[in-house]
Amino acid sequence: MSFVNKIELRKIEVSPSILSADLANLAAEVKKIENVADYVHIDVMDGHFVPNLTYGPIVAKAVKRVTDLPLDSHLMIDNPEDFVDDFCEISEIVSVHYESTHHLHRLIQRIKEKDVKAFVALNPHTPIELLQDIIMDVDGVLVMSVNPGFGGQKFIPNALNKIKRLNDIRRKTGLTFKIEVDGGINEETFEYALNAGADVLVAGSYIFNSEDPTAAVKTLKG
Ligand code: DX5
Ligand code: ZN
Repeated sequence: MSFVNKIELRKIEVSPSILSADLANLAAEVKKIENVADYVHIDVMDGHFVPNLTYGPIVAKAVKRVTDLPLDSHLMIDNPEDFVDDFCEISEIVSVHYESTHHLHRLIQRIKEKDVKAFVALNPHTPIELLQDIIMDVDGVLVMSVNPGFGGQKFIPNALNKIKRLNDIRRKTGLTFKIEVDGGINEETFEYALNAGADVLVAGSYIFNSEDPTAAVKTLKG
């Protein structure tokens, strides 16, 4: 069976990031992708872990009220322990950065105890090998393909190496963690990410800056 066929058999999920949506019309923006997307990606930034500020649990709860899509919350904050319970209440996936906590194992267990999927996110410079002793505990790895903080940046090609290495680990160990990729995903880069082994595509500007966000999600789903 060709590699392309294997991709077709795999379930590919798309998680549109509202970072690039019209935040003054969030409910209408989410409606545009509701019938085609798999999640709504919530980029939480604190002005410390990343050089930008976005929204916290209050806005995320407002999004939750206007959609049936599950929330995929990406915490780009220092001291994620302070907010993780709030996001577990409303999310199907909570991603915490490897670089943001001294006690990743404890934090992952705390998320899973709430029956929420615990993903660990890696900045572009963080090697996947650092996950060796936690990979069996996580539900997914979020590979950052831009430096976190802003939408509309260019895809960093080395992310593909990281996705491939994670996919190899998955094959060799039989573990079933998902591989999510975030940053610079568009009509060109998504295929590279899928070929490397990604299962969940996060895209912000490509979807919400397009004339037709529904069609943009469909393009990513192939
Ligand atoms: C970046 C965020 C991303 C961002 C992606 O810090 O984590 O989710 O919204 O935006 P695009 O798709 O425009 O690179
Ligand atoms: Zn994100």
